[in-house]
Order: sequence, then C-alpha cells, then structure tokens
Amino acid sequence: MNSSKTALILGSTGQDGAHLASRLISSGWKVYCGFRRGSGAKTWRLQSLGVLDKVQLVNINIDEPFNVVDALKSIQPEHIYHFAGESFVADSFIHPVTTIQANALGTLHVLEAIRHVVPTAKLFFASSSEVFGNAKIGEMLNEDSLLRPTNPYGISKMTAQQLVRMYRETYNLNATVGILFNHEGPLRGRNFVTRKITYNIARLKTSNGNAFELGSLSASRDWGSAEDYIKGMVASLEIEQADDYVFATGKLTSVREFLGFSAKAVGFYPVFEGEGVSEICIDKPTGRVLARVSERYFRPFDTSARMGDASKLTKKIQWQGSRNVEKIAREMVFVDIDRIKKGITNV
Ligand code: GDD
Repeated sequence: MNSSKTALILGSTGQDGAHLASRLISSGWKVYCGFRRGSGAKTWRLQSLGVLDKVQLVNINIDEPFNVVDALKSIQPEHIYHFAGESFVADSFIHPVTTIQANALGTLHVLEAIRHVVPTAKLFFASSSEVFGNAKIGEMLNEDSLLRPTNPYGISKMTAQQLVRMYRETYNLNATVGILFNHEGPLRGRNFVTRKITYNIARLKTSNGNAFELGSLSASRDWGSAEDYIKGMVASLEIEQADDYVFATGKLTSVREFLGFSAKAVGFYPVFEGEGVSEICIDKPTGRVLARVSERYFRPFDTSARMGDASKLTKKIQWQGSRNVEKIAREMVFVDIDRIKKGITNV
C-alpha cells in the first residue's frame, strides 16, 4: 500500500482517467482528479466505478499556465498522469487550432509547471498512435518508428510528446511517454466507433429502432483493453528511469469485424451486403438492417491500419493484455444492454 502517496490525474473525466482513479484508489493513493469546468458534469464514469466520493475533484484548465502552477503548488503530487486535451481525431479536422492549443500548448504548460514547482514528480504523458500517421502494410510500430502524423490531432500529440522528451533530456524531468494505440471498454464515449457500435447494437437488440450509420467499415485498428493499458501505465511509472513505451496488442481488426463480434454476442446473425457507401449489415434470419454506411462519417483523410509492437513494455513490466478484441466487444455490448434495461440513457 502507498497510503502516503499523492497522484494527480489531468483529464480525469474520460475513460482512462476514471479507470486510473479507481486503480490508484484501490492501491491506497490519495487521488486528485483534475477536470475542466466545462466537463464538470461528466463525472458518471468515476461514479460508475464507485470512486467519485473517494477522490478530490479539482478544476484545472491546462490552457491557463498559472492555473496549473497553482494546482501543483497546493497538491504537491508525486505522480502526475496527463490525459487532458482533445481526444477525438475526426473533430480535429474541424477544430485544428483548438486541438493544437489544448494538446501541444497545454502539455507545455504542464511541463513548465512541473519543472518550476514539483521537479522531482513523475509524469506519465498519454500520447497516441496517431503520431505515426500512415504505416506500411504489415509494419509493426515501435518507440523508434518514424513520426509522420496526418491530421491535426496526430500533429498535436507528436509535438507534445517531443516536448515531454525534450524536458526529460534537458531538465531531467522524470517524464514517461505512453504511445497508446486504441483502447476500449464500456466507459468509452459514444462518439468513438467501438462504443457507437455496442450502444447501437444493444439498442437494436432491446427495441424495434432503426439501423444506425457508420463511416468506413474497412478501417482497421489495433484495439486493446482500456483497463489493461491503465495497468501498464501505473506499472510504467514504478520504473525508476523514465522512457517511451508503445501500448498495443499487435493485432488488427476492422470496424466490420468489430460490428460482427458485437452483433453475434447478443444473438444476431450479421451478414454484409453491398460495397462502399452501399454496404449494409443485415441480421440474416430476419432480414433486418442493423447498420449502413454513410459518407457523413468519412474523414477528410483516415489513417491506414497500424499495429504496435509493445515488446519493450512487456519486457520491462511483464505486461500482458487480458482480453482480446472479441471479448472487449462482448463486454461492452452487455454493459450497454444492462444500462438500457436500467433506463440509463445519458452515458
Ligand atoms: N468515430 C467513428 N465513427 N469512427 C468510425 C466510424 C464512425 O461512425 N465509422 C468508421 N470509423 C472508423 C474511423 O474512420 C477510424 O478509422 C476508426 O473507425 C476508429 O475511429 P475512432 O473510434 O474515432 O478512434 P481513432 O482511431 O480515430 O482514435 C482513437 O485512438 C487513438 C489512438 O490510436 C482515439 O481514442 C484517440 O484519442 C487515440 O489517440
């Protein structure tokens, strides 16, 4: 037990922040959960994990350098996890300036505040596989792979992660970079494709509603479990020397396959008909259309299939995923069915 230790989570109202808060609380940490006032109402994740009344909520806006400085002065955290900022890739095409400001400049504010206020604190920075942009077919991406992001979000994360590395090398900050491939679970927001699918499949299973729309069904991702990745993040900060680590499964799954796993899990018999924008997913025995493709959800540019090589992390902390993507889909769709049955519709 680390009963005397204090952790600060910046960006605690998202999926990762909530899982992390829960994990740290159960290991005896005192946990401060930073949130932006605008996201003040989104405490449902912390609540659903039963930790809302066990953490200290603090309003921290990383766009404001002195706000971060003041927070660090009063909290004096030993470990800081930085998840704050914009996380939805598609939106970054619409809000490129906000994205760069929040993710790149915001991270710089965090680094400067740590350097001046708590220079011996350990930092975990959540970067993204979007820093790699497009990979070659079959390429396994690792900590030394070329950074060539292809959207404002990826560029903001690349800038931020290079700043973290620079502060580590120049000012000796104990700052670790996690290059996180997609990681999912029931606490995902409905704007991300996995949860959009499981929520809608649960809705279709429990009512006579209409089919839902998706973008490219052929898009593939390296999907892991959010809970597994959080476990790895906590363990990575226990390593004395800060470093960069890829968090990934090394396996690719298409949106089409994820939809198939989710639909099958609840008893549908999904088959796909048509091609491109005309493709539909049908429940074969009933002929009911479950999902269709809509150009509305196409991105101006979508990054190609990327797989990560997490062997560095695995070697350091014996890290291993506990769930494959089929199991993740199953877990998510059943949690969504349970929520619908309980009348929980606002999450
Ligand atoms: N969101 C969404 N909605 N995506 C869709 C849809 C749809 O209706 N249809 C197809 N997709 C495709 C997207 O084009 C993309 O190729 C893939 O599904 C995954 O999209 P998202 O779930 O939105 O995630 P992401 O890969 O863009 O970004 C996530 O992973 C990154 C790490 O690789 C986010 O969690 C980022 O914050 C994270 O850095």
